[in-house]
Amino acid sequence: MKHIRNLTLATAICSVLLSCQEKKAESTIGADAAVEARVEQILSQMTLAEKIGQMNQVSAGGDVAIYADALRKGQIGSILNEVDPVKINEYQRICMEESRLGIPLLVARDVIHGYHTVFPIPLGLAATFDPALVEEGARVAALEATAQGIRWTFSPMLDIARDPRWGRIAEGSGEDTFLDARMAEAMVHGYQGREADTTSMAACIKHFVGYGAAEGGRDYNSTFLTERQLRNVYLPPFEAAVKAGAMTLMTSFNDNDGVPSTGNTFVVKDVLRGEWGFDGLVVTDWNSMGEMIAHGFGVDRKDVAEKALEAGVDMDMMTYGFLSHLEELVRSGAVKESAINQAVRNILRVKVLLGLFEHPYVDVTAGDAVQYAPEHLAAAQKSAEESAILLKNDGVLPLNPASVRNILVTGPMADAPHDQLGTWAFDGQKNHTVTPLAALQARFPGKVTYVPGLTYSREKRERFDDVMAAARRADVVLVFLGEEAILSGEAHSLADLNLKGSQSELLAAVKSAGKPVVATVMAGRPLTIERDLPNCGALLYAFHPGTMGGPALANILFGDVNPSGKTPITFLRTVGQAPLYYSHNMTGRPYNNETLLDEIPAEAGQTSLGNTSYYLDYGAYPLFPFGYGLSYTSFSYSGVSLDREVYGKDDVITVSFSLANTGQYEGEEVVQVYVRDLVGSITRPVKELKHFERVALRPGERRSLQVQIPVCSLAFVGLDGIKKVEPGEFQLWVAGDSASGDPLSFKVQ
Ligand code: NOJ
Repeated sequence: MKHIRNLTLATAICSVLLSCQEKKAESTIGADAAVEARVEQILSQMTLAEKIGQMNQVSAGGDVAIYADALRKGQIGSILNEVDPVKINEYQRICMEESRLGIPLLVARDVIHGYHTVFPIPLGLAATFDPALVEEGARVAALEATAQGIRWTFSPMLDIARDPRWGRIAEGSGEDTFLDARMAEAMVHGYQGREADTTSMAACIKHFVGYGAAEGGRDYNSTFLTERQLRNVYLPPFEAAVKAGAMTLMTSFNDNDGVPSTGNTFVVKDVLRGEWGFDGLVVTDWNSMGEMIAHGFGVDRKDVAEKALEAGVDMDMMTYGFLSHLEELVRSGAVKESAINQAVRNILRVKVLLGLFEHPYVDVTAGDAVQYAPEHLAAAQKSAEESAILLKNDGVLPLNPASVRNILVTGPMADAPHDQLGTWAFDGQKNHTVTPLAALQARFPGKVTYVPGLTYSREKRERFDDVMAAARRADVVLVFLGEEAILSGEAHSLADLNLKGSQSELLAAVKSAGKPVVATVMAGRPLTIERDLPNCGALLYAFHPGTMGGPALANILFGDVNPSGKTPITFLRTVGQAPLYYSHNMTGRPYNNETLLDEIPAEAGQTSLGNTSYYLDYGAYPLFPFGYGLSYTSFSYSGVSLDREVYGKDDVITVSFSLANTGQYEGEEVVQVYVRDLVGSITRPVKELKHFERVALRPGERRSLQVQIPVCSLAFVGLDGIKKVEPGEFQLWVAGDSASGDPLSFKVQ
């Protein structure tokens, strides 16, 4: 991290932000004077040891007796990983009745894309481009988790990720800052509820910050983001989530430009606390305080505990650094008790706001009825339906349910109930999961033949005789491919993104039977599927779709639901293109469709190759751009116009256009608006998403639409380090993906 900022600059950024947006709230998490008074009153009674105890979070999930003594002494402020409501109540009872001050615990869990009812992985949720639906999903997760005593989730993950090798790309909203910020707000509102009550679960925005930019896409690896990249690309989703009221934040594992996040005063103290005024709770990631020793950023636990506190961390997850060393650091004068008071205030404020002092216990008889409630399953199914992206269709889809007699279902993901839940779905149960095979068998009794071909994605097979025999008898072949949950997520990065094992061979084999072939891919990331496209008539990309993936996909395949998901991340042709994302800066030598290596004779010399920015073997374009996805119908944009040619910095741009459904099916289009700032004090992205919305149209329907883009949303941190709109010429596109549409021009003066 470069400490190029100074206080004047910080103030300048702040005031520009404030003039553009609403006034900075007194308390970002909604504490009023009564809450503050309560916090002060509790704090005033606490010993130094009790204060430090609040700053300690431990992993429970075993025998309650293990921690009973520490709880009585007030040495634990929060637990994670206990999901048994009876045990949670017992932990709380010990705190409330047997500890001196009766301070309840914050009970945490990684409820990432659903609790028992599992929704699509967050990358799949982002593909819906539907914040209202995503909010509903987070609300369902909160209802189920709080019914069992969990009041804090470590979600949403807001790490911008532009390298699909990174396994945790599954857990976020993909490559785009604007989309990520909208999903962040939706999830915060869903988890925390619009009204605080016992169904509110504190959100934890993570990982602060830059973790998704791990070098080479290898998890935990270093990042080297400049302050300007942080401010223009990586920080805005966090700022949006703070403005939405996110109660807690987690520091990340990575070091950025040499400074591990858990010891990074600039990002935590200066930006988060200082500029954004965040008064929620900052927790470390799991032992990320201790890992500062492995980073070589501190000599021992005492040293890193001091550094984390100094950076602005309030709670230590699983290092025991605060618990073991803060008292000694205060006594020696190295740390001021006032810094500890501040951290404890931040923790108590969250506990008070969640109402934990009044409602520490959960009703153990009521929780089960809430899990997998029909309306929760319906929301999960709708989310899976909206998140599936149709990437190819030669006309084979939708299938006609009336005419199928023998459906062959094959592939390793056809009946993988655990794996379709995806990463971080600890509490989703296999027996509640409906796979595509189960959904199709229920819908077409006696008409489905299941020959898996491969039992798991990495399996290698020479021949597929059994599948081929069944394919010859079938009238359609549905092939479910992808990767198991274990191949993405934390510490699960990959260097090769082709379909693993003999999956591509399986697809090619069934294609040779001459029957219509539809491939559905379930994966935690955008895999490199270029070589597979010719071997299927249609390809649906479902990510890991969750509990109700089966019925959702069956509905799409058989035309009850028209696919409407759009790529939240660029799909690469080959892994060597990574990182490739739509909002890249313009180079001095932009690619201009120059010759590729295999298009020129071997004897041709160097001069026959273009001197622009591309790969000789793969060019410069992806397989599918950001924002892309087909529908069973077609949409046509026309009459795009702006209300003016020149705008002032405080104006709002009104974009008018007409959208028509020109096909045969009812459908939803994700309308996208992109802007380019042609000349800046620094080079600017070739396009940036500034607005999206879903529009539903019946066949033949045409609608006139208007979109408002505030000019202040075009601001960025330029050469002088100040966030502002720079006057000059801009272009604007309205289209169904990031690579389509014709630009309109306007000026800002
Ligand atoms: C480590 C992960 O990085 C983080 O995302 C998660 O919330 C914590 N472990 C707690 O399980």
